[in-house]
Amino acid sequence: MPIPSTPRHFLTLLDLEATEAKRLLQRAIELKQMVADGVEYLPLRHRTLAMIFEKSSTRTRVSFEAGMAQFGGHALFLSPRDTQLGRGEPIEDSARVLSRMVDCVMIRTFDHDKVERFAANSRVPVINGLTDRFHPCQLLADMQTYVEHRGSIEGRSVTFVGDGNNMCHSYINAARVFDFELRIACPEGFEPDADVVEGAAGRCTLVRDPREAAEKADLVVTDVWASMGQENEQDDRAAVFARYRVDAPVMAAANPDALFMHCLPAHRGEEVSAEVIDGPQSVVWDEAENRLHAQKALLELLMVGAPR
Ligand code: CP
Ligand code: NVA
Repeated sequence: MPIPSTPRHFLTLLDLEATEAKRLLQRAIELKQMVADGVEYLPLRHRTLAMIFEKSSTRTRVSFEAGMAQFGGHALFLSPRDTQLGRGEPIEDSARVLSRMVDCVMIRTFDHDKVERFAANSRVPVINGLTDRFHPCQLLADMQTYVEHRGSIEGRSVTFVGDGNNMCHSYINAARVFDFELRIACPEGFEPDADVVEGAAGRCTLVRDPREAAEKADLVVTDVWASMGQENEQDDRAAVFARYRVDAPVMAAANPDALFMHCLPAHRGEEVSAEVIDGPQSVVWDEAENRLHAQKALLELLMVGAPR
């Protein structure tokens, strides 16, 4: 068997160069148009994507599976409940085996370290479909959505309200890659990790008040108060996060043409009011749809290479 060349992984947004990331968004927009025009494009015929889900998912699972089908390939759903991963087979061994059988692997898990260990032992590209620390695929869709509605995000002002979690960390990385200013409003003790913030020095500010953070923002984003794996903290977090809700007064502080995004699933009345998520500034349904198009551009880049 020929020795495979080192595969290209997508574990965080920083795995993409800035120009490449912008090109990927344009490619996602092109691929979306091709679907709308009924153009058949099958670059991944006979290729297989394995999808390991150690946490629940609607959007990530369906968008990767539909994307592979549209590209003429196949996607395999694997859960720890019915694979040997759930019975303690080492992640390194699973990586060695799976990557001899499939052409790409997507993983959604808890510790970020797990996707890194998988990637280090994989012969094929590995995609982070969400870890406790990062959710980079969501950011591709969010950035595509901003570009479609408002043009380039470079130099714009973005506000993240809520927990310093995987989405917040991914927005911090996006501020570096796509060159925008990010203001984060989070309660004490729920700040993003210092090393991630330091990486975006000069582009990222932490404040306590959501309205202050949203002042003159072009995009306001939030996420759940308790992420997957933190369900037993829900009540305590609800008390701490009570004022970290994107509601009409927060949106009123932003620019009049500001957009609202949420990766979903959302909890109306908690991190966002129904008035905002179901209101005219919200683009959450386009954002969810763009998971499909942005990830198709990513699959193409990792498995075929950038189109000329
Ligand atoms: N936004 C997101 O990743 O959704 P799912 O958890 O449904 O995949
Ligand atoms: N922060 C959330 C994102 C869900 C898509 C979680 O990790 O559960």
